[in-house]
Amino acid sequence: MMEAARRDTRILLVEDNPTTLKTFARLVEKIEGCVPVCYDDPADLVASLPDIDFDIAVLDYRLPFCTGLDLIRKLRVSPRHQDILIVLVTADDEPAIRVEALEAGAIDFLRKPVDHVEFIARMRNLVRLREAQIAMSGREDWLRSEVEKATAELREREEEVIHRLTLAAGYKDSETALHTERVGRYSGVIARRLGLPAAICRDIELAAPMHDIGKVGIREEVLRKRGKLDEAEIREMRRHTSIGAEMLNGSKSALLRLAADIAASHHEDYDGGGYSCGLSGEAIPLAGRIVAIADTFDALTTERPYKPAWRISEAFAYIRSRSGLQFDPACVEAFFQASPEIAAICRKFRDVPSPAAETTAA
Ligand SMILES: [Fe+2]
Ligand SMILES: [Fe+2]
Repeated sequence: MMEAARRDTRILLVEDNPTTLKTFARLVEKIEGCVPVCYDDPADLVASLPDIDFDIAVLDYRLPFCTGLDLIRKLRVSPRHQDILIVLVTADDEPAIRVEALEAGAIDFLRKPVDHVEFIARMRNLVRLREAQIAMSGREDWLRSEVEKATAELREREEEVIHRLTLAAGYKDSETALHTERVGRYSGVIARRLGLPAAICRDIELAAPMHDIGKVGIREEVLRKRGKLDEAEIREMRRHTSIGAEMLNGSKSALLRLAADIAASHHEDYDGGGYSCGLSGEAIPLAGRIVAIADTFDALTTERPYKPAWRISEAFAYIRSRSGLQFDPACVEAFFQASPEIAAICRKFRDVPSPAAETTAA
């Protein structure tokens, strides 16, 4: 932590008697590192409060048109003076005033006529207290910024891990890197349309590209087979959901745990007819229900070894026809509300020019 440059301690003196004010100012000047800030009229002080800074305030109790207590209350609600140290100077030895002053925020008292030695001794104590107060608040700010920095770094690393894992999976999978990119973006758009908090939408967008990470555990001849898979191959292919979940589960990272949920549930159907667990409705994690639509839409609108690319309008119609069966109706609704953004992503991140990219969304 950088040591802040030492600065003068500014001591505000408010006293309507010019002789006493001068005496106080001279006493303050005797204390090393202290400078007096003098006011003989409380109205002048109140007018300039928004523009002046000081560390300690020494306020006379009896002032023209107001009391030192009134000034204490004004200082305590002034944003830049809320934590300054306040001393009240009073000729009255009335306990009631002292109690009121303490309640208003004074921390010390001086009794008139002020003893010079006592004045300097009390000011020195307050200067030390003020220095400690400033050092403490500087340390708090420093700690806060260090925690923020460390959290941001951790998050950056998490995102990098996710990105690199997705890339690694891409080496084996016949689907393009742009497939995972688009599924992430579609999922983020749907999540936002559902009105989920911004941080969750961002997490879903980052985690969704890993939905098929479990395909690294599937044999290449199944993964890259052109044409239809037989029953056994379909069973093997379907294991990519549980393999992906096993790979990602149990992480301390909430982002990786979300990715595990998505990997496990993106082929579940809303009506319970999907895999791997046959979950239905709300039992399917919301992120999985979102990615299910994004992944299917992307599979439909892109060319695959076993099928040509569908037009965007055809893919939208298919998603609508499967609402309540394969897909969560609320997610389908959000998907349709976001159709201009979905179509824009489809065009912007296309693999190769295709009929789908030339057509507008339903
Ligand atoms: Fe999948
Ligand atoms: Fe996929």
